[in-house]
Amino acid sequence: RARAIVKELEDKCGTPIGKLRQVADAMDVEMHAGLASEGGSKLKMLISYVDNLPTGDEKGLFYALDLGGTNFRVLRVQLGGKEEGVVNQEFEEVSIPPHLMTGSSDALFDFIAEALAKFVESEPEGFHPPPGRQRELGFTFSFPVRQTSICSGNLIKWTKGFNIEDAVGGDVVGLLTKSMEKIGLDMRVSALVNDTIGTLAGGRFYNQDVIAAVILGTGTNAAYVERAHAIPKWPGLLPKSGEMVINMEWGNFRSSHLPLTEYDQVLDYESLNPGEQIFEKLISGMYLGEIVRRILLKMAEEADFFGESVPPKLKIPFILRTPDMSAMHHDASPDLKVVGSKLGDILEISNTSLTMRKIVVEVCDIVATRGARLSAAGILGILKKIGRDTVKAGEKQKSVIALDGGLFEHYTKFRTCMESTLKELLGEEEAESIVIEHSNDGSGIGAALLAASHSQYLGVDD
Ligand code: BG6
Ligand code: GLC
Repeated sequence: RARAIVKELEDKCGTPIGKLRQVADAMDVEMHAGLASEGGSKLKMLISYVDNLPTGDEKGLFYALDLGGTNFRVLRVQLGGKEEGVVNQEFEEVSIPPHLMTGSSDALFDFIAEALAKFVESEPEGFHPPPGRQRELGFTFSFPVRQTSICSGNLIKWTKGFNIEDAVGGDVVGLLTKSMEKIGLDMRVSALVNDTIGTLAGGRFYNQDVIAAVILGTGTNAAYVERAHAIPKWPGLLPKSGEMVINMEWGNFRSSHLPLTEYDQVLDYESLNPGEQIFEKLISGMYLGEIVRRILLKMAEEADFFGESVPPKLKIPFILRTPDMSAMHHDASPDLKVVGSKLGDILEISNTSLTMRKIVVEVCDIVATRGARLSAAGILGILKKIGRDTVKAGEKQKSVIALDGGLFEHYTKFRTCMESTLKELLGEEEAESIVIEHSNDGSGIGAALLAASHSQYLGVDD
């Protein structure tokens, strides 16, 4: 009976190449719709107000704050222009107490401002701003925001594990500024960016061929450089550069071609944001382990997979985290020791046989493979939209995609499956011109670079 459940799962999660092409085509279609009009698609295709990416000329000391991944980070970056590049970079990582993720906006932003103030105190001698000048900050805020300028924007909704009702609709820069003022921290947010935008900017600083960025972490999302005249909904004068970076919010993509199962449906229904972020719920680190837990629970309930009684821990939502799933999936020991100890330590399931452990690994493989292959299809969708999915005769142009996030970084089987699927989708010749590059923590640097290029003191002196 357990075998039958796994077999059915495998069928329902199938992502043959034809299906992935349909997903990529649907992504391309939705991208057009989202750019055509506000609310035209599930894909918000948000305008970032970033119309110039870093050139390398950026100079000065800037701060950055990164909120929305697993950890919250504060950074200090000393930029030295073309010759010197990033001269110095320091950061501190603070984990957000879970109760702040669903409490009040004051509590969250006060906490962030305090951590930032503490970090500023450690600023080395000789790095203080000249008298009368404010410190400047690039704020990476990894949630959907309707920007009103490069340095302001209203939160559309929370995603991932956050849900703070009183902040929805509010200007996040205003909220942060208010909390900073409360404790006398005089700092100006000169750029508000999504993590995908920060990663794109950080990636571009090191490699001018970077044209898109994808985050595969707690959540998933992508940003890319669009031609300004391909954005019918753009309200103002077209930017001089002729380009605009778009935050797709692809986590909210959905299509009838997505291989959804009963587990995904119930997970969605019971989530903080039912009906939303369907693509994200199939792919990202916050959910993969939880999908596996739900499948194992059904196997326990309906097939006595772990014995006559259902292990009580298996009923606890989110108890099985994606890093644990990854550890089980990568277990290379002949008796699957890691699987045995994870099941024992986390779920208090002991005495598992090798056959049972093998089935658990199989479940991890099915769930991770589906997510990885779908993310490759998403990338193909972007390449199609900007006409980079086919190589024109004689062209040697490389298209680099900057990737970041814990899932990409640590879940090796996920990453290699995503990369090989993209190659498979593109074909040999095309695959040569598309490069996936890990942009390690690029979004912090990227936010600092964008803070520099939007500094209020630009051109004042040097
Ligand atoms: C980091 C980026 O490395 O990846 C962050 O610098 C981003 O900006 C994060 O939010 C996402 O990954 P995770 O796994 O922390 O959600
Ligand atoms: C979620 C957020 C999005 C972010 C992504 C990755 O999808 O809505 O803004 O980029 O997670 O962190």
